[in-house]
Amino acid sequence: MKKIEAIIRPEKLDVVRQALEESGYPGLTITEIEGHGMQKGAFQQWRGEKYKLDFLPKVKVEIVCIDKDLEKIIQTLIESTYTGNVGDGKIFVYEVEEVVRIRTRERGERALV
Ligand SMILES: Nc1ncnc2c1ncn2[C@@H]1O[C@H](COP(=O)(O)OP(=O)(O)OP(=O)(O)O)[C@@H](O)[C@H]1O
Ligand SMILES: [Mg+2]
Repeated sequence: MKKIEAIIRPEKLDVVRQALEESGYPGLTITEIEGHGMQKGAFQQWRGEKYKLDFLPKVKVEIVCIDKDLEKIIQTLIESTYTGNVGDGKIFVYEVEEVVRIRTRERGERALV
């Protein structure tokens, strides 16, 4: 199993949530985060004054999936978040050792979805 961690634009969360559900993954974890990538933040203007924002608000979406669904989920995430502008986000993939559904005590893939 794999854990996919996607850092996305907050305004894309709703469409991502819907796309994941349609791909058979209704379960997910989200966290409101701040971060920056290559551009190290952004300049903004307020009442004519330019100022630098070192960190920008993003949402982190975590989904654990079975190995054979990994590419499908990555494609789903790309298609639902791409704008072509800087700051579109990033996807990180990790190996997952075990999953337990507490209610049923199911383990592994059976406990996923
Ligand atoms: N190397 C990294 N390690 C951890 N988090 C990262 C890394 N790069 C980006 N992030 C996270 O992803 C968010 C979005 O990054 P962003 O899309 O700006 O990446 P980028 O590499 O600058 O690409 P782009 O040039 O398209 O903007 C950042 O706000 C940060 O939270
Ligand atoms: Mg960037």
